[in-house]
Amino acid sequence: MIMPIPRVRTFVRGLDEKMEGGIPKGSVNLICGTAGTMKSSLAYSILYHNSINAGIPGLYVTLEQDPRSLLTHMKKLNMKERAVDIVSFNDIKEKVKERKVENWIQKLSGYLKEMKDEKKYELLVLDSLNALYSLTTIEDVRAEIYFFFKSLSDLGFTSLLISEMPPEGGRYGEYGVEEFLSDGIIHLLFQRRGGILTSLERYIGIVKMRATNHDTHYFPLLYQEGGFTIYTREDLEL
Ligand SMILES: Nc1ncnc2c1ncn2[C@@H]1O[C@H](COP(=O)(O)OP(=O)(O)O)[C@@H](O)[C@H]1O
Ligand SMILES: [Mg+2]
Repeated sequence: MIMPIPRVRTFVRGLDEKMEGGIPKGSVNLICGTAGTMKSSLAYSILYHNSINAGIPGLYVTLEQDPRSLLTHMKKLNMKERAVDIVSFNDIKEKVKERKVENWIQKLSGYLKEMKDEKKYELLVLDSLNALYSLTTIEDVRAEIYFFFKSLSDLGFTSLLISEMPPEGGRYGEYGVEEFLSDGIIHLLFQRRGGILTSLERYIGIVKMRATNHDTHYFPLLYQEGGFTIYTREDLEL
């Protein structure tokens, strides 16, 4: 008998059933989109709801936004409990200052290993990959990104790596190798709607999810009543 792959729920209403129940445990996933598509909100919400509803501990590493500003935003989205541990660049810098390695990818991997041993985190968000790249000189792009992704899965994290795409779209990752090296890609998108009174609508699509028979539609994505919801064709036909 083939055992089902253990999965981590996204808690996005309607989405998990479109992907065999969730993200495969231990996988490395990109959450991609242009600025303002709610990448950080989605990633945080996955950690938040896993902690609150399933008791699964998560660590949110923010190299971009100040933790206080992140928390203020999440409180506005009705995620008010202290359910997720957040660490900033400064917290990490303080912890790794003794380490001899110069390369920030290696420093971060070392730091995450310690955190995993100490606190048994199962879920990890890195916000963002672009910010990590900006801290370091990457000489052999493919090898170093491969090393980083592999170190995350070897540590046993289910990882959500935020990747900020340029406004004109294009690659899911800055170097064009992330989309091959990752196990999954969740893409957040804005679409303009209407005539003079143009408005932006949000969409979510599962572009890639290894070992998963997933739906490939882009679904309208809404944030309401403290959580994300997708709308499917069946919902819209009602
Ligand atoms: N209730 C809300 N309160 C605050 N911002 C909201 C709310 N609902 C939606 N947003 C949107 O969240 C966006 C920021 O989300 P964020 O996750 O920081 O985006 P990203 O990380 O992709 O840049 C804001 O630009 C705003 O449009
Ligand atoms: Mg963000």
